[in-house]
Parts: sequence; C-alpha cells; structure tokens
Amino acid sequence: MELPGSITITEVGPRDGLQNEPETVPVDAKVAFIDLLSNCGLKEIEATACVSPKWVPQLADAAEVLRRIQRRPGVIYSALIPNLEGWKRASDCGVDKIAVFTAASEEFSQKNTNASIAETLRRFEPVIAAAHENECPVRAYVSCVVACPYEGRIMPDQVRSVVDSLLSIGVDEIDLGDTIGKAIPADIDALVDSIGDAVPVEELVLHLHDTDGSALPCCLRAMEHGIRHFDASCGGLGGCPYAPGASGNLSTGDLLDLCLDQGIETGIDREQMRAAALGIETVLGRSLKS
Ligand code: HMG
Ligand code: MG
Repeated sequence: MELPGSITITEVGPRDGLQNEPETVPVDAKVAFIDLLSNCGLKEIEATACVSPKWVPQLADAAEVLRRIQRRPGVIYSALIPNLEGWKRASDCGVDKIAVFTAASEEFSQKNTNASIAETLRRFEPVIAAAHENECPVRAYVSCVVACPYEGRIMPDQVRSVVDSLLSIGVDEIDLGDTIGKAIPADIDALVDSIGDAVPVEELVLHLHDTDGSALPCCLRAMEHGIRHFDASCGGLGGCPYAPGASGNLSTGDLLDLCLDQGIETGIDREQMRAAALGIETVLGRSLKS
C-alpha cells in the first residue's frame, strides 16, 4: 500500500473548532480567522453552522460571518446545515456548499439533533432538493463511525447502513466522523472494508478528532487505503458540544507536517497556517493544542 502523491484538506476550525468555545468569539475575530485561513492555499473552509442558535449559541452569527468574509476565488466556503431553515439562512448568504449531518448512533443523533437517524434523513430530503436546484453540492457527515459517547462501540455495518441511506437520498459526498477521537488504524481498515464498495475510497472524506493521539496514524492508514480527503482544524481547535469527551479535531498543522515529511502535496502554506493558529490563539487567550 502506497501513500498518495497529494491530498486535500478541508479546514473545519471556524465551525467544528469554534462551536465548542465557551466564551463568545466576536464576529470580527471569526471573520479575521477565516480571512487568514483563506491565505493558506486551502480549497475548502467550513466557515460556520446555520444550526439553531438555541443549540449552539456560539455560531448564532453565521449569517454575518458568511456575509463579511473576504471570499478568495477558488476557495469553497461551506456551512453545516441541519434542516430547511438552515438551508434558507445559508443560501441567503450565498454559501458555496452545505454539509448535512447525521450519525451511526441513535442516541447521539437524538442528543445532537433531537431526532432519530431516520428523522434526520427525512429532514435532509427537501434540503438536498433545494441545494441541488441551486447547484450547491451537499456533503453528509456520519458521526460516531467508531464510537459513541452514549452507546459505546459502533460497528462498521451500522455506518454502512447510514451511508447507503444518505446515498439513496442524493448526497454528493460522504464524510466519516470519528466524533470522539477513538479510532485506531484497525478501525480505518474495518471502515474501508465495509464502505469501500458503496463509495470509492478516493471520494470518501475522513473527519478525525484527536483524543488519544491516534488521529495521525489513522490518517496514514487511510492514505494507504487510497483515501485522499481529510478534514482538519487549525491549531487542533474543536470538539462537539453534544459529545462529552470529544477533544479537539485533528490539527491542520500536524497533518501538514506529516505531509511535508512524507512528500505529500497539499497546496497549503505551513507558515500561513501557523499565522492563522497564532491569530485565533490570541483571540482565545490560551495556548492551542497544536
Ligand atoms: P429542535 O429544538 O428539535 O427544533 O432542534 P425546532 O424545529 O423545534 O426548533 C427550535 C427553535 O430553533 C425554533 O425557534 C426554530 O425556529 C429554531 P423558536 O420557534 O423556538 O424561536 N431553529 C433554527 N434557527 C436557526 N437555524 C436553524 C434552525 N432550526 C431550528 N437551522 C435542531 C433541532 C436540528 C435545529 C437542533 O437540534 C440543532 O440545531 N442541532 C445542532 C447541534 C449542533 O450543531 N451540533 C454540533 C455539530 S455536529 C458535529 O459537531 C459533528 C461533526 O463535526 C462530525 C463529527 O465530528 O462526527 C459534524
Ligand atoms: Mg467533528
């Protein structure tokens, strides 16, 4: 198994990272953070979430953020969307791509979206139709692909079943989320084995959190399987407010270091990424993990 010559990284720090911050981050600081990230050579930035402000007050300013960022040509600015109300808010701001989200765990789905997995899928159908009418691509996250903070171990066939349902309602991209950062490389083998004939590995996206330091070894294993798209978060910001124990996301800088070391192209400037991490670190007033 060989490593790929290049990979792509979607930066999720402004959404998955900041959603977990207890103190409100001012809009100006969010916009400045995304503008710094736009200088890094990233092709895609998940800028915010148009979810209920009652559930995630930190991202209540999603519309203002989307309107005020400086959009660099060639960069896709996306937003996380749970329902039609979220789609309307995001499309009013001219978002380039949306990401819907469900889970392989029933209990996590309830805690995170107040809906069963089946109900989340029903909510997505009109969202996907509206997005496609507007030529807006739809990513779909499956959370808890390895473990759930409430149900414990999740089996690959549970993930496969949700992936099949998402594909049947027309999503464009599948993103596998290890929400609480429990995956080890053998879990990646099992996921690829289970899902690889539903979604070509080179189209799959992997979204790792880094609770026990195994995110990078998992990335390497995934690359050996041919996975080429990864999510990561500047400075290792992150966590999910509805996933107790979820630590930060895989750090974009750590992933870039691995790629530099292994001669894998990302198109991302390591120094600019460091500048973005230092910028948001100053705003948050504490040292980031990476
Ligand atoms: P609900 O309370 O069941 O829904 O929430 P509702 O329809 O009864 O709405 C309640 C209120 O919210 C209403 O307002 C709605 O209008 C409003 P009220 O009438 O009470 O004034 N509302 C909205 N407002 C703005 N935008 C919207 C929206 N929707 C409803 N889109 C809901 C259901 C799904 C909305 C809620 O549970 C929710 O927003 N959940 C999101 C939780 C979240 O963002 N979690 C973190 C992201 S997931 C994650 O981090 C995992 C991931 O990173 C991958 C991984 O790591 O695995 C993606
Ligand atoms: Mg996440």
